[in-house]
This record gives sequence, structure tokens and C-alpha cells, in this order.
Amino acid sequence: NSNTHTTILNKHYPKSSITNVTPNIIKHIGLNLHNNKNSPIYTIRQLIEDTFDASSYRKFDKYNNFGPIVTVKKNFDDLGFPKDHVGRSKTDTYYINDELLLRTHTSAHEVECFKNLSKSKDHNNKSISSLVNGHGYLISADVYRRDEIDKTHYPVFHQMEGTKTWNRFTHNEVIESEVNKMDQLMKKNFPSLTVEDVDYIKDDATHQNSKQDYMTDLETELVVKHMKKSLELVVATLLKHRYDHDASKDKNFKNPDIKMRWIEAYFPWTRPSFELEIYYNNEWLEVLGCGVTKNSVFTNADMASESQVGWAFGIGIDRLAMLLYNIKDIRLLWSQDNRFTSQFEGKEGTIFEFKPFSTYGITSRDISFFLTKELNPNDVMEIVRDEAQSWCYSCTLVDEFFNKKMNKKSQTYRISYQNLERNITTAEINEINDKVVDRLIKEFEIQPRN
Ligand code: PHE
Repeated sequence: NSNTHTTILNKHYPKSSITNVTPNIIKHIGLNLHNNKNSPIYTIRQLIEDTFDASSYRKFDKYNNFGPIVTVKKNFDDLGFPKDHVGRSKTDTYYINDELLLRTHTSAHEVECFKNLSKSKDHNNKSISSLVNGHGYLISADVYRRDEIDKTHYPVFHQMEGTKTWNRFTHNEVIESEVNKMDQLMKKNFPSLTVEDVDYIKDDATHQNSKQDYMTDLETELVVKHMKKSLELVVATLLKHRYDHDASKDKNFKNPDIKMRWIEAYFPWTRPSFELEIYYNNEWLEVLGCGVTKNSVFTNADMASESQVGWAFGIGIDRLAMLLYNIKDIRLLWSQDNRFTSQFEGKEGTIFEFKPFSTYGITSRDISFFLTKELNPNDVMEIVRDEAQSWCYSCTLVDEFFNKKMNKKSQTYRISYQNLERNITTAEINEINDKVVDRLIKEFEIQPRN
């Protein structure tokens, strides 16, 4: 019964008071663009995997088929998220019920992959995790977040997670030699790459980003160096794929210099942590987060405490694909329109300039109302997404004020509608917009005003 249960891929999950997955979101489950050869998401994944394998002595294990429903424990607890972390709130995360949610990041699978690793044996029945040459895995999957609505945000997107781990014996020499190998590759392929370290902490200036106590200075330095080199190589290789394509089309094309920078960051399960930004189209863009894996992650995966060192990263694939193919609207990644799909069919493994096709007009409607109870902008976004689905171009809180006389807060949202495939009529827009207002009245008791 749909009042008491949510059905996802033919399985029924009991609802609870926290349940907030919507039919629109459930429709996306199982589409798995990262496994669809005709999606740019697939190509980006494949090129990243190839680069990691080529720069490493040992191939990475690949996990591309994890389902999106995970426990709260996997997504948050195992990784050391504080109980009051904003990521846990139901304004940011899609919950199935009290125990289950739609993963908000691929890090949710780190611990189980480490568990597999600690159990697996090589052909001599020797535990893989004790091999000295380092071991890595890459996980690609769809992830889900309640968020604002605009050209670069979609509630479903794709991430790749990766880690590399060494057992702590003769690891320093091994790490160093792999770093040297990557250095040579780098000098050969990317002579004009410049990388800068920015020494300030962006989000949370008070937290400490120093090394973990159980690791030596040398270990930390080597692991960080190995991590940064690996990731610089991956991102530079993606850019090179695009530039090589441009050069093949235009004899006069000159490869732009590649600029990157590392910013200190914070993640509950890594220390120290960083974000990588690239300079592209005259702006700095964040492309990934990473850090030195905390000992607690290894112990949660039943590995001996302080027996391992390693790093982990997570990269968003969708925005990277938009950047590299020059796709301006994130909704296009999900489009079934032949004018989109035909450009990618049979093109796996290549990055090229996407040719935009004519788009249809954007029509905006403002809705203004007084609040009578708490309303998070993400709740409005979610109703708009649910009613307008792919016809929703953007939704923004454009005005907010407090009316002293009435003792009430007022908000105005601007909703912009656009169908990528055809014109929408005024009647159609009005119908959707009215439904949005009705639901806000019913679910949040707003009082519309003019
Ligand atoms: N999961 C993080 C995110 O979604 C990225 C990350 C992965 C950071 C692994 C550190 C280590 O932002």
C-alpha cells in the first residue's frame, strides 16, 4: 500500500515520519548513466579508470553496480559524521525511512570495499592487503541530494570514489617509486601544467587539518604526494583528451596551459583533506575532494588498527562532463531527445564539443506567500521538481522579509519553466504552477499574497 510503503525497483520499503523520497526521484533509480555507453558520464568514468590503471603498478578493482539504497550507518556513521551534521538533515538527504536513505556520496561504500579487500587473497592464498605494492579500488555510482534547482544542479548525479592503500612495511619505497613514475609521465605529457598549494582552510577555519598521530611525517608526506600526483594526472588527462580533439579539428589550435590548485578542506573520514580546483574558461572550479584515510575507516572495515596507510578521493562526474563537452544545462544529461543522444551514440571514449540545439523559451512565475511554519527552500525545490519534473529550469528564493504588523515572514520564489524539447503553453505552465502553490498550502500551510 503506497501510504505505508515506498516501492523502488519492485521492492517495498516501510515508510516512517522521515520518508521524503518522491516519485520523480524514484523514476531515476536504475537508469545508471555511468553504465550506459551512449552517455558522456560513461566516457568520463572510463577515461578516469584507464588513467588510474596506467599510472599504477597494479590495476584498481572496479565497482560499478552498487544499488543506491544504503543504511544511515554506511552513509554517515561509519565515516564519522557527527550526529548533528547538516548532511544528515531531511532537507538535504532523501530518506526511505529511519534506517535507509539514497546514498548522498559514493564514500558510503568505502568500508565495505575495504572489507572485501581485507578478505581477498591472491593466488598464493596470501592476503591482498598485505601485499606491499599498494591496492586500490574505484567505485562509480549515482548519488542523490536534495538541492537547489538551476542549470548545474540536479537531484541525481554521479560520483567516482577511489582509494589506494598500502600495508605499513616496505611501503615508503613503493609509494616513492610510483610517485616518480607519475612524475615522469607528467613531465612528458603535461610540460605546461602548473599546480599551486593554497594554504588556507575554506569552510571551517578552526578545524585542524594536521596529519594523524599514528602516521609518521614521512608517511604522511609521501601519501599526500602520491594522492595529489595521481589526481592531477587524472584531471590533466581528461583535459588533454578534449584539447587533442580540438587540435584534430583545427590545425591552429594551441593547447592551453593547465592550471590547478589545492585547497585545504575538511571531511570527517580523512585527515589531512584537500579539494582540487582547475582554472577553466577564466574561473576556478572545484572538481574533487580527497584526503588521507583515517585509521578509523580501516578499523571499521575489520583491518588491524594502524596497519594501513592510504588516501581516498571523490569526484563528481556530471559537472566535469558538462565542462569537457560544453553541455550548458545539466538536464540534458538525462534527455532522450534524439538531438542529444545522437551526438553520443558510438562515441564512447572521446571528448568533443557538444553542439547545442535550439532551445525553447523560458517562462517565469513568481509566487509570494507568508509562512505560518518552518519552510526550508529545499522543500519548495522538491515540490517544484515533483510537479514540473524536467520542465523546471530553475527556482530561486528572490525575496524574503519580515512583516512586523502580521508577525510573519514572507518569501517570494521565482520559478522558471522550460521544456527542452518543445514550447510549453501558458495553460500548461499555469496548471503546474497552481499545483505547486496548492501543495505548498496543503503541506506547509503557506498563505499566498499578491
Ligand atoms: N564524498 C565526498 C563528497 O561527496 C568526497 C570525498 C571522497 C572526500 C573521499 C574525501 C574522500 O564531497
